[in-house]
Amino acid sequence: MADDTWADLADLFADEAYASVKGYVRTYVMHQQLLEHLPPPPASVLDVGGGAGHQSFPLAQAGYDVTVLDSSPAMLDKARRRLERLPDEVQRRVTLVESAGENADEAVNGRRFAAVLCHGVLGYLEQPEPLIDQLCRCAAPGGIVSIMTGNAKAMAVQPALQRRWYDALAAFDTRTGIGVLGVQGRADTVEELSELVRSRGVEPIRWYGVWLFVDWLEFSGAELDPTDQQQVAATAAVELEASRRDPYRQLSRVFHLVGRKGRS
Ligand SMILES: C[S@@+](CC[C@H](N)C(=O)[O-])C[C@H]1O[C@@H](n2cnc3c(N)ncnc32)[C@H](O)[C@@H]1O
Repeated sequence: MADDTWADLADLFADEAYASVKGYVRTYVMHQQLLEHLPPPPASVLDVGGGAGHQSFPLAQAGYDVTVLDSSPAMLDKARRRLERLPDEVQRRVTLVESAGENADEAVNGRRFAAVLCHGVLGYLEQPEPLIDQLCRCAAPGGIVSIMTGNAKAMAVQPALQRRWYDALAAFDTRTGIGVLGVQGRADTVEELSELVRSRGVEPIRWYGVWLFVDWLEFSGAELDPTDQQQVAATAAVELEASRRDPYRQLSRVFHLVGRKGRS
C-alpha cells in the first residue's frame, strides 16, 4: 500500500493508548462482551482493521484461530513484533494479512469466519458501507459480526469534559470531531448501524457501551495509574457493568454492536 496514513499514529495508538487504564478497560470490556457470543475455541476470527492485534491476540491466546487484516504496514509491523513475544503455539494461530478492509473477501480467498471483528475503524472512513459489505460477507452462516465505533449521540461528552463549551454546544448536532488520536473521526448511531448490517443479512443481537467513567475522569484531568493492578481490575469490573445497562451505555462515546448472520 503506497500511502500508509496510519504510520504516524502507530506508536501513539499501539504503545501509548493501550498502555493506559482506558486501553486496558477497552480490551477487557470488549473481550468479555465478545465471549458472550463467540462459539468455543477453536473457531476462526477475522479482525478487519485489526491494527497491532490488541483485541484479537487475547483471542488467539484463548485458542481461537485469528486472521488480522489491516491496510497499514506500520500497524502490521507492530502486530508482528507483539506477536513474537507470545508463545509459539499462539503465534501459529495468528495470520497477518495486508489489505484494505474493502477488499477483505478477496484478500482471504473467500474464506468464511465464525466471527468478524471491526473495532475502531469505521469512524475513519467517509463511506462505511463498502467495508460493512465485506464484514457481513466474510462471516460464515450463523457467524457473528462485531463492530465498535463512535456514538453519534454522545458527541458533546468529550468537548464538555474538556471545558470547550462552544465546541460542546455545537457537537450536539454534529457527526464528526477530533478524537483522542488527534484525527478527525465520524460517528454513527446504533440504530443506523443496525440497519446497515440487517440489510446485509446480519441480525443485530446486542449492543454495549465501552468506556464511561474512565473517559470522564481522563477528560476532566484526573490521572489514573495503570500500574495499580487492583484498582485497574476494579475499574474494569465497574465499566463492564455500565457497558451493559441503560442509561450508562447510552452515554459511552463508543458503542459495540454484535450481530449474527442468518444460517441460510
Ligand atoms: C484505531 S486503530 C484500531 C485497531 C484495532 N482494531 C484495535 O481495536 O486495536 C484503526 C486501524 O484501522 C486500520 N484501517 C483504517 N482504515 C482501514 C481500511 N480501510 N482497511 C483496513 N484497515 C484499515 C488502521 O490501519 C488501524 O490499524
